[in-house]
Amino acid sequence: MAIKVDKEGRLFHLQTKDSTYQMYADEKGILLHTYYGKKIDEENLRGLICRADVGFSGNPPEAGEDRSYSLDCLPQEMPGSGVGDYRDDCIRLWHSDGSMAADFRYVGYEILAGSYRIPGLPALHDSEEEQGQTLVITLKEVASQVMVCLYYGVFEAENVITRAVRVENQGKEDVILDECLSCCLDFQFGDLDMVTFAGRHAMERGPERNPVGRTRLEVGSVRGTSSHQYNPAVILCSPQATEDFGDCYGMCLAYSGNFVVSAQKDQRGQTRAVMGINPRQFSFCLKEGEAFDAPQVILSYSDRGFTGLSHQYHRILREHMCRGKYVRARRPVLINNWEATYFDFNEEKLMAIARKASSLGIEMLVLDDGWFGKRDSDNSGLGDWFVNEKKLGGSLKRLGDRIHDLGMQFGLWFEPEMVSQDSDLYRAHPDWAVQVPGREPNRGRNQLVLDMSRKEVRDYLLERMTDILSNAPIDYVKWDMNRSVCDIYSHTYNRIGEFYHRYVCGVYDLLERLLARFPDLLLEGCSGGGGRFDAGMLYYSPQIWCSDNTDAINRLDIQYGTSFFYPVSTMGSHVSAVPNHQTGRVTPFQTRGHVALSGSFGYELDLNKVTEEEQALVKEQVAQFHKYYELTHEGTYYRLSGPAGRFCAWEFVDADQSQALETLVMTSAEGNPMPVHTTVKGLDPEKRYRCSYNDMVCSGRTWMNGGLTLERVPGEYESLLIEWRAEE
Ligand code: DGJ
Repeated sequence: MAIKVDKEGRLFHLQTKDSTYQMYADEKGILLHTYYGKKIDEENLRGLICRADVGFSGNPPEAGEDRSYSLDCLPQEMPGSGVGDYRDDCIRLWHSDGSMAADFRYVGYEILAGSYRIPGLPALHDSEEEQGQTLVITLKEVASQVMVCLYYGVFEAENVITRAVRVENQGKEDVILDECLSCCLDFQFGDLDMVTFAGRHAMERGPERNPVGRTRLEVGSVRGTSSHQYNPAVILCSPQATEDFGDCYGMCLAYSGNFVVSAQKDQRGQTRAVMGINPRQFSFCLKEGEAFDAPQVILSYSDRGFTGLSHQYHRILREHMCRGKYVRARRPVLINNWEATYFDFNEEKLMAIARKASSLGIEMLVLDDGWFGKRDSDNSGLGDWFVNEKKLGGSLKRLGDRIHDLGMQFGLWFEPEMVSQDSDLYRAHPDWAVQVPGREPNRGRNQLVLDMSRKEVRDYLLERMTDILSNAPIDYVKWDMNRSVCDIYSHTYNRIGEFYHRYVCGVYDLLERLLARFPDLLLEGCSGGGGRFDAGMLYYSPQIWCSDNTDAINRLDIQYGTSFFYPVSTMGSHVSAVPNHQTGRVTPFQTRGHVALSGSFGYELDLNKVTEEEQALVKEQVAQFHKYYELTHEGTYYRLSGPAGRFCAWEFVDADQSQALETLVMTSAEGNPMPVHTTVKGLDPEKRYRCSYNDMVCSGRTWMNGGLTLERVPGEYESLLIEWRAEE
């Protein structure tokens, strides 16, 4: 039993293999957070809470004469707004009498077998190997009929605790929910750093580490998507934590829209971190009997540094968030025509790319933007999901069949959530586009956003996509989304604070319905590359185009930052042409392959235009992809260095520690170079391994402690794959 409750039904232990999360509903009914960290025995840690009369921190009525009992100082699970806790809160309510108070007390609990689902939202699911367990704690607002159910999921073997919140209005009067965050983590003692993953379009998810102090640290998105700029996943760690050692707490939100995460020390030096839907431009009206579900936060603790934490997230996201056939099935090696042709293609160009690719072992052609409506540039056509047969020289079925005849699979690009003003869809339904009547809307990439909160919009898109996917042999869909959302307005309801969340729920609804109709479809998420790379999207698409930046050296930074939470199997990564289209940099073909192999592998160029030696390298790389698939897609991943030094190295080890693969890329060159020495991780100390680099055989212990020095310092941008194999 991962969930243990004392006989009074007030002390809750959530036990995973190596961690404990503990809560206690005290005699006043406040749900206190007593502990989260390395595993402890089932004993009440409320004694850790040392109360004091703290000036200007008031006392709730139940405290009577006791001035030391203050919500402003107590560690809590669900701090409410307006009732004496002046720190960041999780829930804000406006009542029909004009008051603003969210004061919750403990009512009871329930334990459910298996993991919980959240209506309309992604959530971790059970697998054959591991079933979760669920604790539901119910709280009631003191002066209204608003109930809160706090959901706690425990995945014992994976060292993961999840949190989600349901707010229900059981009263007669409307209640306005102005904020509903999913998770509060209070730490009474110690210092913490917060690591966030920040960037911009084509340069996403660079780690940034800051000490948590009395100045509030906050990142988030109000762009309608989780965004390129900040990722909805952060690490709180001890200031001493490194890759291999130290306490690390991960907070990862399974949500693809506006979010916020913040951390701050209070007046007594306690740290509070909160995470959930961004309350900016958020406001939900709950009528009698209505409920609101906040998205899931996936928490994990490791005392083995960032590496230990990453391993836990990789496993849980790969095995319990991704769904469908492609959790297990091999991903095809693909070639995408975007950087090869942009909008300038026809049937023969595509077939020439496909023929060459197929002759080199590539398994799928993905036809990117431009195959529909009037779409020869990014200024028109979005929304008109009708095949442009003139451009394709025939039907999509004919093209798909020709690709299939080559023994390849066929994939297709869509950008369902968008509309061009120059489109038949916009001319027929201008009110389907998100824009405020009487105001000129912002355009992003010269396009508008469709109101995905409207069912008729989603029905149209489902009908169009179903028609296309049913009438051509399509194995894969790239689901793109190329602008941030603003100018929000909806013609179907007037509480615009509901828009952003309803938009995200609408996207999820369409994805769910599409996958129900085409369960074997491989979906690749994309938002101008990595603008919606989050745990929520992984519920629908087991791979996401990691970035629009295909430069192998920039990709080192991007894939490094992405790897803290997201498994390599989820990162779309392609070999593209040089000079690179985003940076102008020239890197060796081999290096581009080695970097892309650490991802959902593919190509993004016309292979008719590369040299014969490079074509031979494609064959070799495809063979390497197959040879190392289990390692790269299911193995354990180690960051051996950061990308900021002279080289960047990382490693995969298989489940039984019989094989390891290191990739090393030189990022700069210098005169009179110092030797390159790399660490080796994750081997079995007792096994003996042969290293492909120098054919030496040593024990795992020796390799891991001694490491490997390269005999020759590779040149700038050169790369190496080095294998360790256990000797029989
Ligand atoms: C942005 C994507 O990230 C690219 O890969 C490509 O699909 C373009 N959109 C097409 O418009």
